[in-house]
Amino acid sequence: MTQRIVTLISETDIAKRVKELGAQIAGEYKGKNLVLVCVLKGSFVFTADLARAIDLPMRIEFLGVRSYGEGTSTSGVVQITQDLSRPIEGEDILIVEDIIDTGLTIAHLLDLFRTRHPNSIKTCALLHKPARTRIQVPIDYLGFTIEDAFVVGYGLDWAEKYRNLPSISVVESG
Ligand code: IMP
Ligand code: MG
Repeated sequence: MTQRIVTLISETDIAKRVKELGAQIAGEYKGKNLVLVCVLKGSFVFTADLARAIDLPMRIEFLGVRSYGEGTSTSGVVQITQDLSRPIEGEDILIVEDIIDTGLTIAHLLDLFRTRHPNSIKTCALLHKPARTRIQVPIDYLGFTIEDAFVVGYGLDWAEKYRNLPSISVVESG
């Protein structure tokens, strides 16, 4: 079986959109205690670019999650493999996700963080696949809406491969 990598969103288009999101976030978080929460592993590339597009003081935290599931589907059972390094009480949390697919991961994280009494919690996702929604979640900042295809690159993986592709691509088997 051969695999073909087909570009869906180019490096240039991603960079342009990330700059726009960064400017929008900077405008809305002035004077606040912004903490970006990078959801590992998929969001590491997006968070690195987004953080540099937000011209404000901020903290950056990393959260390790593992969703139990087989292959390309999620079960919705989210296990925290690495927690935040500090409390978030009184802070303005922006959860940075690579993709919102079923919505189960972000719904779980919103519930978890609310118990820690931050001042505010919002969400930022590079991609959204509305066709697969199982639970509605607020997406405050969104890069792109995509069709129901499994995508890789720019941090996203397929069995841990392709995270280093600079574009968002679709893997076609044939
Ligand atoms: P959820 O279904 O919204 O809970 O998404 C769970 C996680 O599955 C995302 O954060 C991604 O890490 C991963 N995921 C969902 N769709 C894709 C995809 O198309 N490519 C790569 N990873 C995906
Ligand atoms: Mg993810």
